[in-house]
Amino acid sequence: MRLLALETSCDETAAAVLDGGRLLASEVASQIAIHQAYGGVVPEVASRNHLLTLKPVIDTALRVAGLSIADIDAFAATNGPGLATSLMIGTSAAKGLAVARGKPYLAVNHLEGHLLSPFFGDPAGVQAAVALIVSGGHTLLVEIEALGRYRLLGQTRDDAAGEAFDKVGKLLGLPYPGGPNVNRLAREGDPRAFDFPRSMIDSGDFYFSFSGLKTSVRYLLPKLENPSLPDLCASFQEAVVDVLVEKTIRAAQHTRRQIVAVSGGVSCNTRLREKLQSACAARGLQLRLADPKLCTDNAAMIGYVAALLLGQGESSPLTGDIDPNLRLVD
Ligand code: KG4
Ligand code: ZN
Repeated sequence: MRLLALETSCDETAAAVLDGGRLLASEVASQIAIHQAYGGVVPEVASRNHLLTLKPVIDTALRVAGLSIADIDAFAATNGPGLATSLMIGTSAAKGLAVARGKPYLAVNHLEGHLLSPFFGDPAGVQAAVALIVSGGHTLLVEIEALGRYRLLGQTRDDAAGEAFDKVGKLLGLPYPGGPNVNRLAREGDPRAFDFPRSMIDSGDFYFSFSGLKTSVRYLLPKLENPSLPDLCASFQEAVVDVLVEKTIRAAQHTRRQIVAVSGGVSCNTRLREKLQSACAARGLQLRLADPKLCTDNAAMIGYVAALLLGQGESSPLTGDIDPNLRLVD
């Protein structure tokens, strides 16, 4: 079963080709350079660029996979959550191809794509786990019981962790997106230089808050005469990472899950990966980190979910709409 998956929920135009569970091609055309001038993603600009880029990205993915469109048995696309005008481009293309070729169409939840990406390529497939999704739009702790059976443990009450990285990056004058740039500068800095708040770390639940942390950086900056960017980045990053690691470990203990699965753009963060590794090792937990290429937005993770759904005999109606606020768990 060969599948073409499309991802256009935000500012990455992505296409992937899978054969069974095997990844044949994964192409991502990033719009970062285009949105950098505005300091963030401009929805109207994003959708117009998806429209221009999607066809060439699909053509490249097929060429890399050594296939033509006639070889594809099913078409999938992200139908939410995300920017409405961006989601419409990918879903319309996948539906159109499905109609033209007389093949099934699968609508995939972007968050399920992230959630299951740590299991991609594992012959054992999706396993019971506690999962942390940390991206630019979401910060969620979820219990995975099995494919399609998820329980929300907690999420952010305000900003997502990636959003906090991006906003602090902007405050510090770093290019968009702030996350990778803060991570890079933090390598040279002292994480104890500034004592930023670890919001809700002792709240006793699995909810997060990152907007206060961003505000403390904002208030501190004018008081510093010669601020060391690396120290600020390292201290801010440490505060985010401490809360994420602490709550994830507590969630694993609470649910008695042995596997900790971590995904989403922020899971590329090298300090988060390091601290999760040592915290899980100390408690005998198995850590499953998504491959860095599958952490930020991509179509391979969408294709993986679509392949699992198809394997269960599922497909989606062509009349199904996008849902910018689609949830992982109702
Ligand atoms: O998963 P993703 O590509 O898009 C969403 O679904 O939101 O995540 C993008 C987010 C951005 O906020 C970006 O700054 C953050 O992931 N990010 C990082 C790193 N790489 C990407 N944050 C911290 N450290 C990184 N190395
Ligand atoms: Zn994402």
